[in-house]
Amino acid sequence: MNGLNVIQHPLIQHKLTLLRDKNTGHMDFRRLTKELTGFMLYEVMKDYPLQEIEIETPLMKTRSQVLAREISLVMILRAGLGMVDGLLELVASARVGHIGLYRDEKTLKPVEYYVKMPANLPKTEVIIADPMLATGGSAAHAVSLVKKAGGSEIKFVCMVAAPEGVQTLRRAHPDVPIYTAALDDKLNGDGYILPGLGDAGDRLFGTK
Ligand code: PRP
Ligand code: URA
Repeated sequence: MNGLNVIQHPLIQHKLTLLRDKNTGHMDFRRLTKELTGFMLYEVMKDYPLQEIEIETPLMKTRSQVLAREISLVMILRAGLGMVDGLLELVASARVGHIGLYRDEKTLKPVEYYVKMPANLPKTEVIIADPMLATGGSAAHAVSLVKKAGGSEIKFVCMVAAPEGVQTLRRAHPDVPIYTAALDDKLNGDGYILPGLGDAGDRLFGTK
């Protein structure tokens, strides 16, 4: 599908399988989430604009390239927090925004409880991160909040996506590409992704 990028790198697929395994405990789940997210960033950032600057090597002056724009990482709480370290390890200068959302258990609609964005968001490349794209309600709402704060160059990164969520997010925000490590089969009656990996927040933080 247009705008959907499923990253097939063997290392990413290997780590995703370990994440899916119900016998993987919260300590390994956290580590694997961090590692997998870091690998995904190479693909997510591959078309980011560069600018040439002048530097001096130990031997001579030369012109060389650096990223043209700052990067904002916007995490959807809670589970997005598990992805922040993997991203910051590679782009240490990024500023981090937080969007607090939880899904109402009955309606599956996102309920907003916290929003704090970097002040320079409009001038930056924005990466929104959440491990799970299920119905797509949380992601679509998060993108709307980023746009309301002035963000325009936006990418959405998750670990597992359901077709329903991809369709919802693409319809609501066709300008926002999606990057995922897997496109799964479908949602179950409770809005969980099948085969999925369960409740990402609970598995990351050991709350169940
Ligand atoms: C999970 C996940 C996403 C959302 C995805 O969060 O981290 O934010 O569900 O579902 P959707 O695509 O149907 O909106 P959850 O609501 O469980 O909150 P938590 O991260 O605080 O546990
Ligand atoms: N949120 C999760 O953490 N997992 C799912 O499968 C769906 C939503």
